[in-house]
Amino acid sequence: MSDFFNTSIGYMKKNILITGGAGFIGSHVVRLFVQKYPEYGIYNLDALTYAGNLENLKDIDQSPNYHFLKINILDADALDAAFDAHGITDVVHLAAESHVDRSIVSPLDFVYTNVIGTVNLLNTARKKWAADYSKHRFYHISTDEVYGSLGAEGFFLETTAYDPNSPYSASKAASDHFVRAYRETYHMQTVVSNCSNNYGPYHFPEKLIPLFINNIIEEKPLPVYGDGLYTRDWLFVKDHALAIDLIFHQGVDGETYNIGGFNEWKNIDLVKLLCAQMDEKLGRAKGYSEKLITYVKDRPGHDRRYAIDATKINKELGWKPTVTFEQGLSETIDWYLSNKEWLQNVTSGAYQNYYNGMYQNR
Ligand code: NAD
Ligand code: DAU
Repeated sequence: MSDFFNTSIGYMKKNILITGGAGFIGSHVVRLFVQKYPEYGIYNLDALTYAGNLENLKDIDQSPNYHFLKINILDADALDAAFDAHGITDVVHLAAESHVDRSIVSPLDFVYTNVIGTVNLLNTARKKWAADYSKHRFYHISTDEVYGSLGAEGFFLETTAYDPNSPYSASKAASDHFVRAYRETYHMQTVVSNCSNNYGPYHFPEKLIPLFINNIIEEKPLPVYGDGLYTRDWLFVKDHALAIDLIFHQGVDGETYNIGGFNEWKNIDLVKLLCAQMDEKLGRAKGYSEKLITYVKDRPGHDRRYAIDATKINKELGWKPTVTFEQGLSETIDWYLSNKEWLQNVTSGAYQNYYNGMYQNR
């Protein structure tokens, strides 16, 4: 796709709607696009749930090409109005309920946002872009969890059958299927990527790595689920954002791309590495934080192993991770240690009270 395209009214600028831009991965994607593409209008659409935090973007929020829209993707009328008001040409869709444990407690929240919210967005794009779908792209960001669980061997390929096990992964799988259906039925131009576990700055401290960093700082127990031998494939979030940029601009219409870190860790080994790195950075005795490890009851339906085969995106688009796990983890820990106020705000809910007050009359 070219950055600008020719229409009957001349060259049209790209106005990209990035949903979920106030969340963890979305904020890295918004920052990258705002800084790299000053010629684009970047519209960060976010409902600011507990996981959305505009503090994540305070370094770029004064940029002339950055705009924030506080909209819930369940509100079809608001989506309609936003597309009209801002001439939205493309969508990069990240907004979602993203935490597996929460999906076990409240599955319906995941059906609403991840399934119905995605269909709302697809419907709006379908209506607004009907004159010529070839000029518009709907990029849906998904997860490797849709493929289910691996045994000790093998990898997830783009052709692996969907086999989701949690309400979260089932809702993401459903949303992926709707994107496919809108392409097949209405010929919208869509692309999907399925990524492995991300880590890095601005990660909400309910997920394994940021939760454990916070607990190590505070000397609280580190709750390892089950036997701790579950395996995840970790990718530094800025490398995911670079892959998203590449797929948005160069990905082939209708294709799916798997994104992964070539970096598998059993949870317990990762937690021990984290403890060792943090003890060193905090000037604590060797082995000090490991004593905080506490084995707790397992997550129901816990997927044993995820591992992505990222050969396709590597061969076809030339993407590969740029940051080693040692570098990425060290940068992540340093970021949390120098951003204790951010951590305190999100764990205390202070930022939520602030935003509730700020937006209640808008
Ligand atoms: P996150 O929970 O940090 O952020 C989600 C964002 O979406 C938040 O800003 C939240 O306010 C917003 N949001 C939630 N419901 C909304 C609604 N109804 N309307 C508008 N905005 C809403 O999530 P994340 O970890 O950054 O994940 C982003 C996307 O990437 C998700 O689609 C997720 O499935 C996918 N993904 C995540 C990972 C990972 O490791 N975190 C890996 C692969 C794919
Ligand atoms: O694979 C991609 C997915 O990775 C994304 O789609 C999800 O949005 C993201 O949350 C993540 O899902 P996981 O369930 O793998 O991530 P989480 O950080 O919740 O857990 C990672 C592993 O650590 C998992 O095996 C469960 C375990 N765990 C997690 C927590 C929060 C613990 O042992 N203790 C914990 O307290």
